[in-house]
Amino acid sequence: MPLGDLAHVLRHANAGDADARLLVGPGTFDDAGVVRFDANRALVQTVDFFPPIVDDPLWFGRIAAANALSDVYAMGGRPLSVLNIAGFPEELDTTTIEAILQGAAEKTKEAGAVLAGGHTIRSGEVLFGLSVTGEVHPDRVTANTGANPGDKLYLTKPLGMGAAATAIKKEKLSLEQALAAMEQMARLNDKAAEAMLAAGARCATDITGYGLLGHARNIARGSGVALRFFASKLPIFPASLELAKKGMLSGGAKRNPESFGADCAIARGVPEFLSQLAFDSETSGGLLIAIAPEKAAKLEAEFLARAVPGVFVGEAIAKTTTWIELQP
Ligand code: CO
Ligand code: CO
Repeated sequence: MPLGDLAHVLRHANAGDADARLLVGPGTFDDAGVVRFDANRALVQTVDFFPPIVDDPLWFGRIAAANALSDVYAMGGRPLSVLNIAGFPEELDTTTIEAILQGAAEKTKEAGAVLAGGHTIRSGEVLFGLSVTGEVHPDRVTANTGANPGDKLYLTKPLGMGAAATAIKKEKLSLEQALAAMEQMARLNDKAAEAMLAAGARCATDITGYGLLGHARNIARGSGVALRFFASKLPIFPASLELAKKGMLSGGAKRNPESFGADCAIARGVPEFLSQLAFDSETSGGLLIAIAPEKAAKLEAEFLARAVPGVFVGEAIAKTTTWIELQP
């Protein structure tokens, strides 16, 4: 079933939006569900798992955990506890399984969360990820619905992990480049989230399988605004720039524009490799943050104080004929 149809089915299967405790539900394609616990606390709940992005089991565990934890950060939350979710083939050796779990445990600890349990099934292919529970103040949720025309857009990790992961699998990256890409994917979005909360942002998402433009489209639709990006401002992982120029990207560079390209106006003058990088899938990408223009300088100062490479990439504008614009 195509992903678009699947999202449709899942949304209709859930009638929970009417419950007043549900602050963020499935209707706005957000990163995680947010459920009010009491006046000052809400739970942030999410689950994410996938087959190996890289062959090394320790790095795969780290990346899968950082990716799952990221959805809590993208809601302005703080991770509290995690559950491992795994599918392992019967013949998989225990050393590999231990390395995956160790990588995830490292990231869980780094996030200040506790491992509370998990569930493993036998499966034809390796699958691993986490269910994460976090906490957020109900007034500090950074939901997809929080962008306004005039907001500035910031991105906190370079694009290009789809291309990099594809190249790692085909052994087209040097060890140094591969390590840098894996480190980027395994990096938590904790500091980026701290910076956006300190600056008073109320809208963010993290960039994963639908790429920059796909996740931006969720903010655009959730907030009823259009988002305009400037291709020349997009931070790109250095090796991925060269890979994209040679046409080496992940399947998302083709699949994503087929799925929602009609909602994206790519201006003439945008080099094709840059629009492809903007469409391509990311793994454990950065936060895309929309913030009121008068708070943008504060956000930049908070990034600087935490060594977060957050850069200005565009702005929210009144809804036009498209949800997303990519300008040169
Ligand atoms: Co997300
Ligand atoms: Co997710």
